[in-house]
Amino acid sequence: MNKKEVSTTHAGNVSFANEITVHRLGYGAMRLTGAGIWGPPKDRKLALAVLRRAVELGVNFVDTADSYGPYVNEELIAEALFPYPSGLVIATKGGWERPAPNQWTHNATPAHLRKAVEGSLKRLRLARIDVYQLHVPDPVVSFDASVEALAELQGEGKIRMVALSNVTQEHIERARKIVPVVSVQNRYSFADREWDYVVDYCERNGIVFIPWFPLGAGRIAGEVLNQVAQAHHAAPTQVALAWLLGRSPMILPIPGTSSLEHLEQNMAAASLRLSEEEYQKLAGVPELVGTR
Ligand SMILES: NC(=O)c1ccc[n+]([C@@H]2O[C@H](COP(=O)([O-])OP(=O)(O)OC[C@H]3O[C@@H](n4cnc5c(N)ncnc54)[C@H](OP(=O)(O)O)[C@@H]3O)[C@@H](O)[C@H]2O)c1
Repeated sequence: MNKKEVSTTHAGNVSFANEITVHRLGYGAMRLTGAGIWGPPKDRKLALAVLRRAVELGVNFVDTADSYGPYVNEELIAEALFPYPSGLVIATKGGWERPAPNQWTHNATPAHLRKAVEGSLKRLRLARIDVYQLHVPDPVVSFDASVEALAELQGEGKIRMVALSNVTQEHIERARKIVPVVSVQNRYSFADREWDYVVDYCERNGIVFIPWFPLGAGRIAGEVLNQVAQAHHAAPTQVALAWLLGRSPMILPIPGTSSLEHLEQNMAAASLRLSEEEYQKLAGVPELVGTR
């Protein structure tokens, strides 16, 4: 790969509701907690260093959630980065609780979401959260009631913009009748394309699409990825990220890592451009999986 200076600025920009603009390669902080996304990190100093280095490399969008740790992830972000540099956007989430290690339970009642937003404000030391994401719709709570609660918190000035995660197009359309939705975060990569139609919907509607688990998996995916990576003298993870950047101008990848070395490598993907042929080869991986 071309040894340009590593900077997320090379990925270009993307805007949330034409109001908040960030570089189009962010950082997902989830991996900075203990094993199983539970408790404090094994190496606290390293976790803080990764966050600070991400910002030095141009990251101005950091994704987190109250459930990562729980709470630990938001506390680490504040410890590493507060007072925040101007333009840094921290997107957090609520509605998904952690009663014990390896347990994730829904709770998107309006009362819980209010408590969750207030907790995140305190831990992140913010007066207002720029982007607040409903982590996942709660099957035992009316989806509209969850979104109305976020709209109310926005009205009170505690949330600047409302966003969704782990949703279908129908959810997005229903939510948009209540409040503007600025971004959607679903699992997505070149090899994992269940949400292709949601990516297209987001692009048509100027909604940022944030793919989680952006580093593709599986044997066939690995074979194709390695071929393209070798041609660019790049790491397979960089190629997976470059594919996402090529997929839609509204995609904002947030690769996660707890390693400084992987962070540098992931952020360097901002400068990697795939040829149309390479892009299409990777785009065809789900079909290859179906035929073997
Ligand atoms: N909305 C949701 O429901 C949801 C769910 C999951 C995640 N997320 C968000 O999405 C972000 C990204 O998702 P993710 O962490 O699951 O997936 P990911 O970014 O695709 O993968 C992270 C994993 O890949 C490894 N890795 C990272 N960079 C690497 C590199 N250059 N070379 C080799 N291995 C590398 C990491 O290990 P090392 O630590 O060793 O680098 C880690 O195990 C999370 O941080 C979180 O903010 C959201």
